[in-house]
Amino acid sequence: MKIGIFYGSTTGITEDIANRVGTLLKADVMEVAEISKVEEYDIAIFATSTWGMGDLQDNWQEGLEILKTKNLTGKKVAFIGVGDQESFGDSFVDGIGIIYEEIKDKGITLIGQTSTDGYSYSNSTGILDGDFLGLVIDENNQSNLTDGRIKLWIESVR
Ligand SMILES: Cc1cc2nc3c(=O)[nH]c(=O)nc-3n(C[C@H](O)[C@H](O)[C@H](O)COP(=O)(O)O)c2cc1C
Repeated sequence: MKIGIFYGSTTGITEDIANRVGTLLKADVMEVAEISKVEEYDIAIFATSTWGMGDLQDNWQEGLEILKTKNLTGKKVAFIGVGDQESFGDSFVDGIGIIYEEIKDKGITLIGQTSTDGYSYSNSTGILDGDFLGLVIDENNQSNLTDGRIKLWIESVR
């Protein structure tokens, strides 16, 4: 199974998380600028932070337009959302929700959803059926939990 991680990152936090996950999963890790390669992978992991008030990370804005044109049928897809639940609790990790909305009807199988337990926020569109769409990391407020969250998630994705 060929795994590709595509990330968009403004200050390097999501990039760091993508690289850590990539090492553990033996995945190719690429900036979202390389999103046109997505069809080469059996499992695609989309990693993004959230900016503005629930906006997609800048590089992903263009990346998502390209992703929408790709054939994702039969692909397993997972998400990594990076955000700040304390300062942006009304739009916590909305970025992953924005990507999911655009590709959910493209024949993908979503893998790696996680429980919202242990996070404190008031609203997030990064949730489906009560669980986060993927691995959710908050380096601003819960960096001490990041290692454990990554490890647990890797096991579930494997
Ligand atoms: C101006 C600004 C707006 C932000 N908006 C959100 C937001 O709406 N939701 C959220 O979860 N995090 C938000 N964040 C937090 C960032 O997503 C967080 O700092 C993240 O770690 C940045 O990752 P990156 O360096 O990979 O882009 C915001 C941060 C800043 C500075």
